[in-house]
Amino acid sequence: MHDFEYRHGELACENLPISRIAKEVGTPCYVYSYATLVRHYQVFDGAFQNVPHIVAYAVKANSNLAILRLMAREGSGADIVSGGELYRALKAGIPPSKIVFAGVGKSREEIRDALATDILMLNVESSAELRVIDEVAAEMGRRARVALRINPDIDPKTHPYISTGLKKSKFGISADRALDEYKLATSLRHIDVVGVHKHIGSQLTDIAPFVDALKKILVLVETLQRHGANIRYINIGGGLGITYSDEVPPLPHEFAVAISPLVRDLKSVLIMEPGRVIVGNAGILVTRVLYTKAGEDKHFVIVDAGMNDLIRPSLYGAYHEIRPVYEVPNAKTRTVDVVGPVCESSDFLAKDRAMPEVKAGDLLAVMSAGAYGFTMASNYNSRPRVPEVLVKGGEMHVIRSREEYGDLVRGETIPEFLR
Ligand code: LLP
Repeated sequence: MHDFEYRHGELACENLPISRIAKEVGTPCYVYSYATLVRHYQVFDGAFQNVPHIVAYAVKANSNLAILRLMAREGSGADIVSGGELYRALKAGIPPSKIVFAGVGKSREEIRDALATDILMLNVESSAELRVIDEVAAEMGRRARVALRINPDIDPKTHPYISTGLKKSKFGISADRALDEYKLATSLRHIDVVGVHKHIGSQLTDIAPFVDALKKILVLVETLQRHGANIRYINIGGGLGITYSDEVPPLPHEFAVAISPLVRDLKSVLIMEPGRVIVGNAGILVTRVLYTKAGEDKHFVIVDAGMNDLIRPSLYGAYHEIRPVYEVPNAKTRTVDVVGPVCESSDFLAKDRAMPEVKAGDLLAVMSAGAYGFTMASNYNSRPRVPEVLVKGGEMHVIRSREEYGDLVRGETIPEFLR
């Protein structure tokens, strides 16, 4: 459910016509609905009201400060993967006591910053990392709270690029090595193992892999407890999928019904790291048709947004619905490729898509672009990154302005010998 609907033949976000936003900030631009974001957060959080839990919103999905502040106000914590995300989360007012830090390649500086700000825990992905965390904590005269990130070797049945819980993946510690890692951790004076963590992949549309992975983790928790561990947190990661076209992912409430009974009787706090399910359908990318072109055997709709603005179709072959901003009753349908201005054949937003016929100047909405849209945007082809707008009721707020050419060269210098 989201708040992008046609009103009087024109697509609106909440009470604001998309065309008004396009007029104000130009195209391309990202548009997010405040009401959708809040509702998605509350529905997810509310589904777990019967178990002690922390929702640690996955900052990587959409890290705009305004969105993070909104999450903080709803009571969310943060799942972060870098010092930059830590900086954003703190700046937005997310309490350190609800921040968890994952990632296979944390640097010493990032570990130091995390310990200095006293975040809830670091999710450790290898013994080498465990030793470095111990060293850094020792230098700082602290004990670092950690969770062991376990790789449960479960197939999430999603795109291989966004699968993380299989043996061959770089993430986590294999279940059979977990006890050894735990023993190593207890031998390190500056490490306090407080939890276990897993995240098996993203855009999961089936509940079974979540349940199977959690069951595997719980067997392990039992083993660790027998060896004296005091596991106070069980972090099941993120990954709940959304509807891009005709997927039918479990609703948060169905997800909670499957997960809660497994953890209810443990004396642990459940941590979840949802990203996409909160922000994915709460955002769109608005773009304008520049040209239409009849190729040898294809029709192209050339728009002003490219793969640098939304890379998901190019990178994963991901489907995003594309809607005309103005409905055209009885419009003729044509099968087209919707492509951007970037100099790559992989620069497309849709391939072989049957769409109502469009012409130069028309506005289009690329749906479900709130997650991993702007956060994966780049300046490739020296294209300034596009603005982000948050709509609340009938008001719009520019929460990131369009980059200017000056921003493109910020930090670059021509050395003396070339002057
Ligand atoms: N926790 C961890 C440790 C993660 O690595 C991720 C996502 C999440 C939570 C949040 O997962 P979500 O609830 O959003 O599925 N760029 C890709 C998705 C990459 C996901 C990376 N990790 C895409 O556009 O589909």
